Amino acid sequence: MGRRPEAPVALVTGASRGIGRAVALALGAAGFTLVLGARSLGDLDELVRQIAAAGGNATASALDVRDHLSVEGFVQDALDRFGRVDLLVANAGIGGGDLFASMSQQDVRGLVETNFLGVLRSVQLVLPAMRRQHRGSIVIVASVAGEVALPGSALYAATKAALMRFADGLGREVRADGVRVTAILPGFVRTDMTRGIGLPMPGPEVVARAVLRAYRQGPRRIVVPGFYVVLIWLARAAPWLVDLVGRRILREMAEKTPG
Ligand SMILES: NC(=O)c1ccc[n+]([C@@H]2O[C@H](COP(=O)([O-])OP(=O)(O)OC[C@H]3O[C@@H](n4cnc5c(N)ncnc54)[C@H](OP(=O)(O)O)[C@@H]3O)[C@@H](O)[C@H]2O)c1
Repeated sequence: MGRRPEAPVALVTGASRGIGRAVALALGAAGFTLVLGARSLGDLDELVRQIAAAGGNATASALDVRDHLSVEGFVQDALDRFGRVDLLVANAGIGGGDLFASMSQQDVRGLVETNFLGVLRSVQLVLPAMRRQHRGSIVIVASVAGEVALPGSALYAATKAALMRFADGLGREVRADGVRVTAILPGFVRTDMTRGIGLPMPGPEVVARAVLRAYRQGPRRIVVPGFYVVLIWLARAAPWLVDLVGRRILREMAEKTPG
């Protein structure tokens, strides 16, 4: 199916599964022309077929956000095909479910390269086109963990907190150029990343709806599901409560550790 000339063009990183996949399906249904990136090309191709079968328009592009050349190719490919980028959803990320002391240097570098530098790369590469267009929306998928850091995810939380500060500052830098920056802070959402966490949680569609809201309204920050706003407030007002939860998590981690 060809692109309708008026259709906005969206790039989604980490679209092969989980939140990125749900975002791609929602944007496809909303009429965006999509360029979808991740390392698992087979999964992306299947998603492209699913979006096309529903009347949408998407292409898949191999992408490793840890590699600057790969991100450059991903963005350039979109610009060559469509000449513009209206929305970037910088979503690709990995979890870091381990105690910091147990992480290897390779784990540490992988987390920072993917969750922080990976986002910076895609954002920096779409900015010239968005500023030229005097229009664009950048959506950065951060996390509630950027506000409330628990044991077993200290570095993950740090990468997400860094993204939030980055989104704040960048938003102020580029607003006058017609570019809006939104940080989305999901709480626990049901994806591969949260498999094994025995808590009730919504599906990734809640984040997809937040992305559409970010594109349409351009708020600085969206927390999903909304009740996490209260938890973030509580964690600030009574950090000892987070300490209590943290001690329990540490005990559970110790019980699961063999030996
Ligand atoms: N699930 C949650 O509860 C939750 C909560 C808060 C925030 N988040 C954030 O939401 C985002 C998506 O998480 P998810 O839950 O959907 O996880 P997921 O199901 O594990 O999906 C992660 C996605 O990121 C991609 N990715 C990972 N490393 C990549 C790389 N080097 N280059 C390109 N793509 C890469 C994966 O694709 P390939 O492996 O095919 O490359 C996959 O499409 C992450 O940034 C995560 O931190 C998730």
